[in-house]
Amino acid sequence: MNQVVGTASHFTEVRAGHLDLNGNFVNPSIPVSDGAATISGRSIVNDRAICEAAQEHLPDSENVRTQRAVLSVLGDGFVEAVEDITLQTLAANQPAQSNGLIHGEAIVIPVLEAPGQTMVGRFGWKDQQPTVLSFAGDAYLNEMGVTNHVRPNDVTSICKTGANQNAIEDTPDSIGMADVDHFAQFIRATMAPPRDAALAATPDAIAGQAAFNSIGCVTCHVDTLVTARPGTVIAGGTYTVPAAIGNKMIHPYGDFLLHDVGTGDGIVQAGPADTANKIRTAPLWGLHIKSRFMHDNESHSVTNAIQRHAGEAAGVISGFNALSQQQQQQIVTFLNSL
Ligand code: HEC
Repeated sequence: MNQVVGTASHFTEVRAGHLDLNGNFVNPSIPVSDGAATISGRSIVNDRAICEAAQEHLPDSENVRTQRAVLSVLGDGFVEAVEDITLQTLAANQPAQSNGLIHGEAIVIPVLEAPGQTMVGRFGWKDQQPTVLSFAGDAYLNEMGVTNHVRPNDVTSICKTGANQNAIEDTPDSIGMADVDHFAQFIRATMAPPRDAALAATPDAIAGQAAFNSIGCVTCHVDTLVTARPGTVIAGGTYTVPAAIGNKMIHPYGDFLLHDVGTGDGIVQAGPADTANKIRTAPLWGLHIKSRFMHDNESHSVTNAIQRHAGEAAGVISGFNALSQQQQQQIVTFLNSL
């Protein structure tokens, strides 16, 4: 048993939609209850429902489709505490580090718990959420079907039970916290995934890291970020970075920016239309406890995941392919130590 609560899963979710006449992505309209109601305004398609009438069946016309792997949330409290400017500076510096090939995109999006406020998105495959609480609240509604103070409106009222249909279901407990607040607090309290220390200390892993850096994997899979100082107010004024999270050096091996590496799934979420085929750089921390890779979980080895990179990563992948077998294997050993 090597499952850890909060880590990545082999489950995938379906996201879908279609293109309009101008070629822009549009969220699906999914009839439920024999056409008596429609679910719209989101790209996620639920595999299950609390009753048959509410079960979604994706129409054939919604032909832009993808599978999305469930992400790890370990260490996300540190990622949340990285200042916007840190991520925006990474994006600004990438072209100069890569002959203009690599240009990560930071998207500025609403903070759900602070109406009217924005922050750089960093959670989800499309950077579609900016904070741990926004992410938890959105998931509680869209993945679990429970309205909460972050996402107060039901996706559908088909089969909804209870006296007051409009009441928020996730109510505060005796200490004034709702479930979503507890989820956020739990996630913020998790440690970053630990490395395999024994493997990391081997000469092969050390040589592999040097090669990973020199061929430019590290331009997107950034090794070190520093969180904001304790006391910094983020999340649109709703959250103060605590001492346990502030001013910490983290090693996510990711830049939390969107890139087109040729694996794009055509789905637009929080970002502008140009993000349709961009995916957030997968942070590589915790890689050694995963068995499937990439946003669709379609890669069963890290070597396969590497070979699927193209687009912005094309130059770096050519560099990888030009290495000796031994050097390539050393990079894989390094990755297996993360
Ligand atoms: C231009 C930015 C960029 C560069 C350069 C890059 N990657 Fe990636 N990497 C990504 C993105 C984006 C993804 C997620 C793609 C997806 O899921 O479709 C990813 C995913 C991965 C994954 C899968 C991780 C997981 O948890 O599923 C591995 C492994 C990986 N990269 C290793 C490498 C290695 C090794 C190199 C250098 C040879 C490299 N990458 C270069 C952006 C980059």
